[in-house]
Amino acid sequence: MTKPHQEAIQQQQQQLAIGGRTLSSRFFLAPLAGYTHLAFRIVMRRQGGLGLCTTDLVQAQTLVSETRKSLELVETCPEDNPLAVQIFSGVVSQLVAGAKWLEDHGYSAIDINMGCPMAKINGCGGGARLMCDTAGATEMVGRVIDAVKLPVTVKMRLGWDRDHTTAPELAAAFENLGVAAVTVHGRTRQQGFKGSVDRAGIKATVEAVKSMPIIGNGDVLTPEDAFSMMQETGCAGVAIGRGAMLDPWIFRKLQDIELGRELFEPSRDEQIEFLSSHFHIMREQHGDFSCLMFRKFAAWYGARLGIPEDLESRLRQFESAAEFDAIVEEIRKRHGERESSVPTALVRVPNGPVERW
Ligand SMILES: Cc1cc2nc3c(=O)[nH]c(=O)nc-3n(C[C@H](O)[C@H](O)[C@H](O)COP(=O)(O)O)c2cc1C
Repeated sequence: MTKPHQEAIQQQQQQLAIGGRTLSSRFFLAPLAGYTHLAFRIVMRRQGGLGLCTTDLVQAQTLVSETRKSLELVETCPEDNPLAVQIFSGVVSQLVAGAKWLEDHGYSAIDINMGCPMAKINGCGGGARLMCDTAGATEMVGRVIDAVKLPVTVKMRLGWDRDHTTAPELAAAFENLGVAAVTVHGRTRQQGFKGSVDRAGIKATVEAVKSMPIIGNGDVLTPEDAFSMMQETGCAGVAIGRGAMLDPWIFRKLQDIELGRELFEPSRDEQIEFLSSHFHIMREQHGDFSCLMFRKFAAWYGARLGIPEDLESRLRQFESAAEFDAIVEEIRKRHGERESSVPTALVRVPNGPVERW
């Protein structure tokens, strides 16, 4: 084992607590809107090693109005724990009302989105736009903290662009307000998802705070990346988004490394079980609509599990749970017909100039 790994593991032995909750692991699932819904979180949690999940971002006001979509996004269950619900808005009163709604409805943690680069969110003053007005963002977060007893965390980028990397300044201000933790995606809004993650920027944020945990995020695709993120930046934990889609067993592997166990590799049956559980949990929440929702995962499972092309194609078209189960049976029987590979194209990120996203 390399020295960075050992040091990161020693850090792990002191458990990480956020907002009074001691977490079983420092490795978290980063929210990926459209993917990290309840069913995905549950199957991921069942693999082991996952410390905390966050919901997809939800517009704060829509929670108060209890729109169908927002209620779906925050749907959870006892197994989906520990969980933070992520809200966004550019309007203080909306954010406060959304936070209170979450408290009144029994949720246990609130995460404020300050990293989203999408125009429709930035145009209303939310997401990464908040990082442009440090006084305004501080006032906003302070108002949320004053309004609820729940722990409040913030997820941000390094700043709006290279000339305005406000993450360290904001993190220090948030710590003074009582924010429980800050996650930093090591890119600016201007970068979108391009270029590489600036770990020095995450490190500068770690150095700007006294003891509030900073969670490093961005481009962690392997357990080695997670340990080196902790080692290079001094961050207290790591949030993994696209890397968890590439390898849903990454959290389990991180745990195995820490415990000195042999590295887990899922058997073919375990992989098929993952696929099947994912769909059936989704179905418990969404009924037969899940047949449609599942389609976007077909290509990924096709590559990951080496599912023969014709069966992958059927996974894109099935219309009932019985049909799904029949396809899974076929997948089991025809094991080995197609080589599995690392899926690359699953999580789409927006293209073109970031100004037009
Ligand atoms: C498709 C997609 C959806 C995302 N949705 C959210 C979101 O709802 N809230 C959020 O804070 N970040 C969101 N992110 C950003 C990720 O949480 C994460 O910060 C970013 O992808 C970098 O981490 P990664 O390289 O581990 O994926 C999203 C990213 C992608 C690609």
